[in-house]
Amino acid sequence: MTLNKNYIGLACTCHDSAIAIVNAEGQVVFAEGAERSLQYKRALFVSPDVPLRTSQLIEKYCDPKAALVAAFSWTRQHASYMERLIRGLSRPDTAGAKARAQGGGDVVSRRTESIVSYMANAQCKALALPGYSLNYEFQRLRGWQGAPIEQRFFDHHLTHAATACYSSGFDEGLCAIVDGYGEHGAAATYHYEQGKLTQLGARDSDQSSLSSLGWFYSELCEFCGFDFRAGEEWKLMGLAAYGESDPQIYELLKCMIGVSGTALTTPAPAEMALLNARLQTFARSPGQPALEVANLAHTAQKVFAETLYAYLSNLHAAGRSDQLIYGGGCALNSSANGGVLRNTPFKRLHVYAAPADDGNAVGAALLAYQQDNPGYRPERQLMSPYLGSEMSAETLEKVRQYGQLASLRECREAPAVAAELLSRGAIVGWIQGRAEFGPRALGNRSILADPRRSDVKDRLNACVKFREEFRPFAPAILHEHGPEYFHDYQESPYMERTLRFRNEVVGKVAGAVHVDGTGRLQTVRKEWNPRYYSLLSSFYDLTGIPLIINTSYNVMGKPLAHSVEDVLSVFFTSGIDAVFIGDVMIQKPM
Ligand SMILES: [Fe+2]
Repeated sequence: MTLNKNYIGLACTCHDSAIAIVNAEGQVVFAEGAERSLQYKRALFVSPDVPLRTSQLIEKYCDPKAALVAAFSWTRQHASYMERLIRGLSRPDTAGAKARAQGGGDVVSRRTESIVSYMANAQCKALALPGYSLNYEFQRLRGWQGAPIEQRFFDHHLTHAATACYSSGFDEGLCAIVDGYGEHGAAATYHYEQGKLTQLGARDSDQSSLSSLGWFYSELCEFCGFDFRAGEEWKLMGLAAYGESDPQIYELLKCMIGVSGTALTTPAPAEMALLNARLQTFARSPGQPALEVANLAHTAQKVFAETLYAYLSNLHAAGRSDQLIYGGGCALNSSANGGVLRNTPFKRLHVYAAPADDGNAVGAALLAYQQDNPGYRPERQLMSPYLGSEMSAETLEKVRQYGQLASLRECREAPAVAAELLSRGAIVGWIQGRAEFGPRALGNRSILADPRRSDVKDRLNACVKFREEFRPFAPAILHEHGPEYFHDYQESPYMERTLRFRNEVVGKVAGAVHVDGTGRLQTVRKEWNPRYYSLLSSFYDLTGIPLIINTSYNVMGKPLAHSVEDVLSVFFTSGIDAVFIGDVMIQKPM
């Protein structure tokens, strides 16, 4: 008798590791980053099969009679490559050593080597080298149900492409994956049709290639004084809006990254080192206010976007589709995403909620499923982002019983009550259902606020998020009203693109408008999230504004809240006025 199989996808990069589960029918029944249960942002150096947690998930979501397949987001060969890379960094034939020998100076080579070295070391730890062995937890589970767990390994960019395409609802399209690095360079292109992915173009045989738009942005993040290891590329993107293009910096950056066909290019190591040394004169000094390097951030963002658009336009020239499916870590750059349809010939764009390496857990599991089910066709609708954990009803009940919280009450009309509180200026925590997969809160682990108040940004930054004043807050908008509020409105279901507000509405929703007149919007449709839609509709009925501020339920440096304890910890140590956990409401005196 043939056993059913369930598929455990493992995103096993050294950062943003994640686990996904696909059932015997090909449905994604669970997906979540390891950072959430650990409350450790980006889960650096952590393998995706977190001890104890993994077996709990398998017991909850897998068919006990099914065999298990573990699907990895990197090939085995890549692990040994990374090990060689670490050893090679100290040898004289590395890029940095060559650059120094050719008089390129130390500044860049040190910076580049430190980034590569960090990644390589981390990757090896995450993969438990040598031999790509499974983590402790999977070794323990090998005897699960008396059957071994089959292991399958997939090309990194192919797993990105599978996540991107299978979540799109598109029948066909061109797929671009752009990130830091893969087994064959830092970008890849595919044609997608009828559930099948076909690689386009020749693959980069040089695994150590630094022709990478992802590295480019990470390096500029460091030049601006932010830490890419902590995922602070967000700060660079937010800061960019405060600056303007600097011709000298622009000239330097344009020499550092380019496009040839559908390949990314960088200069030879010695030249790169010289360019970096010149760029160093514009870098942020220790203790220097971030706003003083806003021009550097702005110019970096501009060059990033121009390079991306050139790359995508060249892909479109293949002439096979007007629909673009885009993934990889670079697809987290919502500012650039918002300009794709305006700056390339593509007519439609899809970017999933988890385009970076965490999302690959879903892609790997679905690729393994497809191997066993060659007729697999993904659903012709957007994949839900709400694939993660739920709040523990048991813990919530204990809070109710023993918390002695006088303001705790059942609230059957939670969306309407929350909307009313928001309209009176309250900052509201909104926790419901399953957590979002990917980095953004999309109405299930969110902090909400009234966008009409111009001081709301300062209040949120100072009393709730405890973060820099230049970080913007994103608007969630009822889909029906999108064109009234945004130029060239596009649906943005996962808060994946930034668009420009219409001038006539800026004064009405000042709290949600970034300094350059843009907003990273989330489109809300009833069928995607009915309860959240109801909240926005109630707010619209009360105020005439179909838009609220939506930011993630966390404090700076932490991931989205995972447990009831996390939710209450943030609530009682910040300026949030009321929090809803499902139908339970807790309120502070206003
Ligand atoms: Fe990646």
